[in-house]
Amino acid sequence: MERCWWKEAVIYQIYPRSFKDSNGDGIGDLKGITEKLDYLKELGVDAVWISPFFKSPNTDNGYDISDYRDIMDEFGTMEDFDEMQREMHRRGIRLIVDLVANHTSDEHPWFAESRRSRDNPYRDYYIWRDGKGENAPNNWQSRFSGSAWTYDGQTGQYYLHLYAEKQPDLNWENPAVRQEIYDVMRFWIEKGADGFRLDAASMFYKDKGLPDGALGRGSVGEEHYQNVPAIHAYYREMYDQVLSRYPELVTVGETSGVTVEEAKKYAGFSSHELNMVFQFEHARLEYVNGDKYNLRKVPLTQLKEVLSRWQRELNGTAWNSLYLTNHDQPRSVSHWGDEGRYRRESAKMLYTMLLTMQGTPYIYQGEEIGMTNIHLDSIEEYEDIQAKNGWRELVAEGGADPKKFMDVIHAMGRDNARTPMQWDDTEHAGFTAGTPWFTVNPNYKEINVKESLEDPNSVFQYIKELIRLRHESRVAVYGDFTEFAKENEALYIYNRSLEKENLLVVLNFTGGEQSFRLPERMRGKKSELYISNYENDGQMGDRTLRPFEAAVYRWRE
Ligand code: GLC
Ligand code: CA
Repeated sequence: MERCWWKEAVIYQIYPRSFKDSNGDGIGDLKGITEKLDYLKELGVDAVWISPFFKSPNTDNGYDISDYRDIMDEFGTMEDFDEMQREMHRRGIRLIVDLVANHTSDEHPWFAESRRSRDNPYRDYYIWRDGKGENAPNNWQSRFSGSAWTYDGQTGQYYLHLYAEKQPDLNWENPAVRQEIYDVMRFWIEKGADGFRLDAASMFYKDKGLPDGALGRGSVGEEHYQNVPAIHAYYREMYDQVLSRYPELVTVGETSGVTVEEAKKYAGFSSHELNMVFQFEHARLEYVNGDKYNLRKVPLTQLKEVLSRWQRELNGTAWNSLYLTNHDQPRSVSHWGDEGRYRRESAKMLYTMLLTMQGTPYIYQGEEIGMTNIHLDSIEEYEDIQAKNGWRELVAEGGADPKKFMDVIHAMGRDNARTPMQWDDTEHAGFTAGTPWFTVNPNYKEINVKESLEDPNSVFQYIKELIRLRHESRVAVYGDFTEFAKENEALYIYNRSLEKENLLVVLNFTGGEQSFRLPERMRGKKSELYISNYENDGQMGDRTLRPFEAAVYRWRE
């Protein structure tokens, strides 16, 4: 397998609004990021992906852009960006920019023009259609509730928005739109970007004729706009016209709904499209029939089946992106671990898994100190447009059980990951000198960066060590993956191997003791400890694993 920097890198994701406020207005900003670069250097990450920091009316916290070439007022100025970029590069940290190209804000000048008249030169930058009688052009649903179409009285047509009403979808079939986006990419490359995370990257191509979607699975219509094979022509063009000119650049697509087969097309080693994609299978196992408001309990065997399948199937042909959470998902320790008694142990166990799989690991801010979900009592206390719209549609208008709805938000809501970063135990967790834009998790006195840096047993110190080890270990990055005891509902056991080097990974996903039997072919082999979240002598063998224990052994064939 060909070596390159982004395969060996560990990437850190920043949600700027909640990272660090430098001027007391309660909103995180670019200067706040610059202040904390030494902290990221200490953790040892190679690159930082920053969620959108461009001009935006903030209907969706920056994922609704009104100017791709300017900085959001709340986040600072272009000078602040230049300084941040310089300071990152001075420390050897690369910068990944979030490219939101499926849609803009309705306040973007292109849309302001587009909605003016049917023959405006920008009309075709977006997707306008006549209604069907009194109804919208088709039955597609917005991912943020309601119809995906909004009627605009001025020209008597509907425009498409797969997200909020204020996020009209760009028309990627229009070559002029694609050229605009490529220009935006070149602009940020010139300004120092080392890569792009492509937002909603599986949704650019909409089926010709915009046919109605089937009912009863996920967002209605998604089979007509998500991972439609014709999308690959766009990516090949993007590669030819932009990406191929910058061989060091990294790209990662946010491809909801992607299958292994599609992923190989987007991110195959010889496909000349993107470098890697985020898959969502493991993150959506709770959803009954793709319905994000109807949750079930997921057996460990199903989580393992998904993760192992992606490991096996992409091996040698495409590259995985590894993540446990991001700004759209719950905290990993709350989701898959134990946010109570075994918070530290389970957070360490989960990141042991992430950093011993093949692919590029992404660590979302706050995960490195084991931050947990937020639990607010009423919907009014939440900020996320997805949750608020969902409440309006399902509870306020639809009569759904409010308690059941709030249970879903507590378990899976996007705001779980958006509470301000917990820097220390002073007021507002040291995030701001003012009033934070969103509630700080009340557990900040116990869970914070200051404490984590002082305590040698903290989650932070452990993840730092995992990163250091990964940087030294080719088998952790490139090794083949073999799973054992697939049917075990408590343990995840796998081996990584490269030439004669091996790592045996043993993970206890429960708060109880579990017995582990060493796979036959490793019996009698000498081993040493790679890492463990408990005292561990490093010799592989049958034994009892402690609650949420993770043990990784290095051994030779
Ligand atoms: C992606 C982003 C999410 C955003 C949406 C619309 O899924 O991660 O935060 O709301 O796209 O841009
Ligand atoms: Ca600020």
